[in-house]
Amino acid sequence: MKDKVLYLLLTAEGYISGETMSEKLGISRTAVWKYINRLRSEGCIITSATNKGYKLISTPDRVDEQALRPHITAKNIAGKIVYFPETDSTNSEAKRHSYYPDGTLFIADTQTGGKGRLGRTWTSSKNVGIYMTLLLKPAIAPSSVAGITLTAGLAISRALDSFLPEDKKAMIKWPNDIVIDSKKISGTLTEMSAEIDRVNYVACGIGINVNNDGFDDELAQKAASLFSLTGEFQNRAPLAAAVINEFEPLYKTFIRHGLAPMMEEYRTRCITVGSDVRIIRDGAAVEAKAVDISDDGAVIAEINGERVTVSAGEVTVRGKNGYI
Ligand code: BTN
Repeated sequence: MKDKVLYLLLTAEGYISGETMSEKLGISRTAVWKYINRLRSEGCIITSATNKGYKLISTPDRVDEQALRPHITAKNIAGKIVYFPETDSTNSEAKRHSYYPDGTLFIADTQTGGKGRLGRTWTSSKNVGIYMTLLLKPAIAPSSVAGITLTAGLAISRALDSFLPEDKKAMIKWPNDIVIDSKKISGTLTEMSAEIDRVNYVACGIGINVNNDGFDDELAQKAASLFSLTGEFQNRAPLAAAVINEFEPLYKTFIRHGLAPMMEEYRTRCITVGSDVRIIRDGAAVEAKAVDISDDGAVIAEINGERVTVSAGEVTVRGKNGYI
C-alpha cells in the first residue's frame, strides 16, 4: 500500500489531497497519513499544505524494487527485480541466476568487477550510475542476438532524451555506445549462452553514467554523465525505469520482425553513419568511411572505394577529440 501512495504522489501534478488518495486507494485518511510518514522516514521529502494536501518534492536516490516499481509501466520486462547494494557484475549475477524468469532485472548500486565490451572494464562508482542487466530468453537464432544490443541502444537513447535539455540529443555510436556532445555516457554488454541453433539465455547489461562528477585520467576525455552534461542531479530510478519502458515495445518488435522496423530511427541517431571511421578487427586498424547501417544492423563501410560489411569488432568515429 505504501508503494501505491508513493505512486499517487509521483504521478500527481503538484498537490494531491489526503481525501483523493483515501478514495482512490480505499483506505482511511489516517492510514494515508501513516504511509506518508513512513515514506518520509525512508527519506522522501513530502510537503503538506492545508486545503491542498501532499506534494512529493524528492525521493531518495535508490534503485531497489521499491524505488523502481512505481516508475515501471512495462508488463513483462522487469517483472522480477533483483537488487544488490554491491556485486561483482550484474551480468555475472544474471548468468548465475539464468533459471530466473524471462525479463528478470538485476540491478546494483556498485559493481566491483564491472565488465565492458571487448574485454574492457566498466567503472561502476557507488550510487552514481545505473548498472543493470536484463535476463532474456528469446526464441531467436543465436546469430540474431546481436540485434538485442542495437535495440537496447535505441531504448537507452530514447530514455535519455527525455532527461536532457532540448538542445542535447542522445546519439548512438555503432553498435550501442550512447554519445552526447561527443562523449560516451552509456554502453551495453550483451552476453549469451546458446547451442548451435537455440538461445538458452541472453544477459543484456546496461551501464549509464548518471551523477558522476568527473572521471579519472584517460576516461575524462571520452566519458560524460548526465550530471556533467546538464549540471543537474538526477534520481536514477526514473531513468532506469524509462530505459525498461522504452525497451519492452522495441524488443517485442525486434523478436517479431527483426531490426528493420527500427532502423530508420537508429540511422538518424547513429553518428557512425557518414563519418570517417577506424575499423579495428583482429588487432589490425583500417581507415574507412561508414556509409550506412544495414537492416540487420551491420556497418557498411567503404575502404579504398570498396564496400565492406562489418558486423562485429570495433568501429571508432573521428571527432573533435580524435577517435571516440
Ligand atoms: C561497454 O560500453 O563497453 C559496455 C558497458 C556495459 C556495462 C554494464 S554495467 C551493467 C552490466 N554489468 C557489467 O559488468 N557490465 C554491464
